[in-house]
Amino acid sequence: MPIICEPHEGAARRLAAGFREHGRAVPGLPELDRALTTDHEELVVVIGPGIDLRSALAFATAQRVHRPALSIVLVREQLQVEVLSEAMRAGVREVIPDRDFPALMDACRRSWEVSARLRSTEQAQAQARIQTAPGKSGRVVVIFAGKGGCGKSMVSTNLAVTLAQAKRHSVCLVDLDLGFGDVGIMLRVNPQRTIVDAVPMFEHMDETGVQSMLVKHESGLVAVLAPVTPGDAEKISGRLVHELLTVLRRMFDVVIVDTPPHFSEQVLAALDISDMQLLIAAPEVTALKGLRVTLDMLDLLGYSAEARAIVLNRADTRAGLTPADIDRVIGRPIAAQIPTSQDVPASINKGVPLAMEDPQHPVSQAIRNVARVALGGPPAGAKESRKGLRRSRANRA
Ligand SMILES: Nc1ncnc2c1ncn2[C@@H]1O[C@H](COP(=O)(O)OP(=O)(O)OP(=O)(O)O)[C@@H](O)[C@H]1O
Ligand SMILES: [Mg+2]
Repeated sequence: MPIICEPHEGAARRLAAGFREHGRAVPGLPELDRALTTDHEELVVVIGPGIDLRSALAFATAQRVHRPALSIVLVREQLQVEVLSEAMRAGVREVIPDRDFPALMDACRRSWEVSARLRSTEQAQAQARIQTAPGKSGRVVVIFAGKGGCGKSMVSTNLAVTLAQAKRHSVCLVDLDLGFGDVGIMLRVNPQRTIVDAVPMFEHMDETGVQSMLVKHESGLVAVLAPVTPGDAEKISGRLVHELLTVLRRMFDVVIVDTPPHFSEQVLAALDISDMQLLIAAPEVTALKGLRVTLDMLDLLGYSAEARAIVLNRADTRAGLTPADIDRVIGRPIAAQIPTSQDVPASINKGVPLAMEDPQHPVSQAIRNVARVALGGPPAGAKESRKGLRRSRANRA
């Protein structure tokens, strides 16, 4: 279904009428450009007779560079030979006389076929370029929980800071909680640049472009922040996330991905590319049920259980649940545990991760164990984590 660009309402309705669901209409070329930026999938646009020829041809010329697979069908009141040849030189695919609906339908169908072929070649080339580009082969670690509020963002930020401060790895933290991302606040960084800056780079992202959207943090990590403007989240497709993470893993040793508490298209793209999935749970019946459903879902989606580890947050506040209860519900070993501490919300309010402010804090020590797990190493022995939990209880007392 093409996008119709026509300022006069009657003419726009007329042009759109033949298409299923009556096509989409925008009144001018700036709106058309915005619509194409949001909808990467659109392959055909119809520029109506209400748009003057010069502007239409300038737009078409610009698309040859920015959106080479896009087809432009130009509708004019009258067909003149000079217009035809000028339009072809500008890259317009077809010029159709106004009110000739069968000709418009045919032109759109033909244009769509050509564009679809060009697009799939383009995608294959982009994929090959990204995959064969020289660079690192960084580890992508996705932090996920099917239930909100389990501590994903707390773990993501503290884990990223811990790894960055150890200075053995370059670290990038990506906030994929596109609607309600907290990473910017938790790290107290200015969201001047966000993941939305990647939208115009879609299908031709490279390291220089991606570098320009990264936000630096004093710990040494860099972050890709979530959008701050309502509605911007919709511009981020799963394919864009895949491309972004593919480029980021060439630039950084570790790429940590914070997520929203549901399996969105973008989360699935991140899980697809991940080397490790850290599943966060809390010892509450609802959170454990969430983990159970998540584990079943990951199995169903065919992800390997080898690349998955469970982290129990607020592990010491069992609220009546025994370790046996927890084991029974989860049915798999817990790789790492993090104690409860009032210092966690305090550190979030301050915008300084606990791992940075107090590396010896029991929560910071537990996060170091999470870091070992995230990097694929064995977790510290049960003795050490119990000691951490005991100390945290003493702290709170
Ligand atoms: N170990 C902990 N001790 C005390 N409070 C904690 C702990 N972990 C997380 N919290 C608190 O729980 C709340 C939720 O944490 P966080 O925002 O990290 O969860 P989330 O899983 O990212 O939530 P959402 O799904 O809404 O993004 C925060 O207020 C945080 O301070
Ligand atoms: Mg969060």
